[in-house]
Amino acid sequence: MSTDKNRKELLKKLSRNLMVSVPMMTVVAVAGFNASSGPGLGLIPSAEAAQGEAEGEARGEAEGEARGEAEGSAKGEGEAEARAEGEGEAEGEAEGEAEGEGESAKLKKAVRRPEGYTPYQGNVADLRAQGEKLFNDTSLSSNGLSCATCHANGAGYNASFKNEYPHVVAMGQRDFGMDMVHLDEMVQICMVAPMAAEPLEWGSEELAALTEYSRVEQKKFIDKQ
Ligand code: HEC
Repeated sequence: MSTDKNRKELLKKLSRNLMVSVPMMTVVAVAGFNASSGPGLGLIPSAEAAQGEAEGEARGEAEGEARGEAEGSAKGEGEAEARAEGEGEAEGEAEGEAEGEGESAKLKKAVRRPEGYTPYQGNVADLRAQGEKLFNDTSLSSNGLSCATCHANGAGYNASFKNEYPHVVAMGQRDFGMDMVHLDEMVQICMVAPMAAEPLEWGSEELAALTEYSRVEQKKFIDKQ
């Protein structure tokens, strides 16, 4: 499988996980629990496992069959098939896992500020206005969601959102291994995981706009407490 296809598959699986977690989050919010105290969604690890398994199985079967047929004609079918199946599975699993990890490592890196990064500089009021539009734009995601699908009227945030950036965010820590998260990194995390999309270009106007608008969201969130 090409890397590009792998990436798309992984993003699709992440989004499928989220489709499950969106109603769950609503239930959690209604019940008055803090979403971060529940069991982790484990977006990245579970997507990895699913991808590893799926690929492992597919390859295992294909290789097993091919070898089974070739050896079968020489040695008697039953025995050869059994052996080939075993080998195929083991190889398939190993390769599937390795590729899953590579993809997830790339996503983990992609949401971190790159070295020597300079954020886009623009008029704050303009960036906020543009950011508000993007916040409601479903075309930013690959799964039909917009930021507002989860965050309308201050929904979906945890208490950490009150803290000055950079700070610890449960999702960043659990799914991306980040101890501290800057606000623009948080935007990228939500782009990659819940939105199942590519991260925005670092230094782009779009990223600056969504970051600036998230600051407006943060202020509303703090004022509401
Ligand atoms: C499918 C639901 C979903 C979508 C869509 C989504 N998010 Fe989030 N977002 C979350 C969840 C869940 C959290 C809480 C994470 C945590 O505290 O561990 C969160 C937290 C945040 C936070 C606050 C993190 C903190 O400091 O505590 C920001 C900012 C944020 N999202 C921005 C965005 C932006 C911008 C978009 C669109 C690009 C977006 N989100 C799309 C689910 C979503």
